[in-house]
Amino acid sequence: METFDPKKFVDNAIAETKKSIGNEKALVAISGGVDSTTCAVLTHKAIGDNLICVILDDAFMRQDEPEHVANTLSKPPFNVPTKIVNVRERFLKAMKELSDAEEKRKMFRETFYQVLADTAKKEKCKILVQGTIRADILETVGGVKTQHNVLEQMGINPIERFGFKVVEPLLPLFKEQVRMLARLFGLPPEYAERQPFPGPGLSVRAVGEIRPEKLETLRKATAIAESELKDLRPAQYFAIIMDNEENTHLSTALRVQETAARLLNVPSRNVNVKIFKHKATGVEGGKRRYGEVVGLKVQTMNGRLHQTPLQNIVSLQARIITENPEVARVFYAIEDSPEKKPYVIGIRSVETKDFLTAKVSEIPWTTLEKIAEDTMKKCPNVSTVYYDLTPKPPATIEME
Ligand code: XMP
Repeated sequence: METFDPKKFVDNAIAETKKSIGNEKALVAISGGVDSTTCAVLTHKAIGDNLICVILDDAFMRQDEPEHVANTLSKPPFNVPTKIVNVRERFLKAMKELSDAEEKRKMFRETFYQVLADTAKKEKCKILVQGTIRADILETVGGVKTQHNVLEQMGINPIERFGFKVVEPLLPLFKEQVRMLARLFGLPPEYAERQPFPGPGLSVRAVGEIRPEKLETLRKATAIAESELKDLRPAQYFAIIMDNEENTHLSTALRVQETAARLLNVPSRNVNVKIFKHKATGVEGGKRRYGEVVGLKVQTMNGRLHQTPLQNIVSLQARIITENPEVARVFYAIEDSPEKKPYVIGIRSVETKDFLTAKVSEIPWTTLEKIAEDTMKKCPNVSTVYYDLTPKPPATIEME
């Protein structure tokens, strides 16, 4: 295979983008992730101020993200004028009361493109530039999920539906190659080396119904997890939130309790198994599936939470899912409050190169405990903080 030459790719992509956009004005929306940021910088090099660059503040971004990204891009060396458009209410209203993962994704995509269509009309843009990359297409066409930015491959004609043509300069690339471009452009390491952030943002990490206070709690938990994990440099790491509601699956719960007690060598009465009300997504044979989320709380004889090398509990997770194919994820409690509160937080950290498969990161217990303690302190509506023990497959990286 020919080695990838970022400079050559950029020269070509600039020329191609210039050709497909001509003298029209084009719109690009930035999420703060490396793909959309790199795409905006590249397109600005191609068409200059004919590019209208926006950040849709959709209520699902991380703490201070819109301001931070807009500041970086608007200043030298990039000089890409970037506007923040506050569309929080519109998204919250559209997503209200939806709890099914795929319905939420579809509604997000619909609202996202309606908002973009309105913005494009207002700004007189007939073209939308997107930072779609190869994995987005592979997974959507493969049936793993409805990636928010994939239209034509899903049979949606953007000109008919939304009134713009779509241009995607990064389409042939893998994530690592996008990072090479970002470095070449001189994007600061916090962007070029940044972990991916999905287009639908925190909405795919707030399992079940979206509520403003649930998102606020998730934002706080995300900031804590990111600041504690970033020096360990996992490929992707974040917090998720779930309603602290259970489902009754007595036979699954009993089987899981039995297996956990045997493998961890603790009495069954010390193992508490919770099966959450909402399901999460996984992949099986390259296709998307939903499965139960199991929360394990294992106590030692002196009533503290049991800690054992992570490899042991990752193996336990594999055994649980093999024995109970209805389960898609296994969470392990790091810190817990005796009182029942409305939410639980999960910490997810994975190692991967292509994002098509991923391993669970071996995070030291001291770090996990620090994250859990800070989260419980700053989020008084959280009962338990768990670590997600599930690789991809059988889970996906995101929860939905
Ligand atoms: P999953 O959860 O499918 O994620 O294992 C694989 C990678 O894709 C990112 N991801 C998305 N990125 N729009 C995006 O721009 C999306 O709809 C989307 N869904 C997942 C995810 O963060 C991970 O890096």
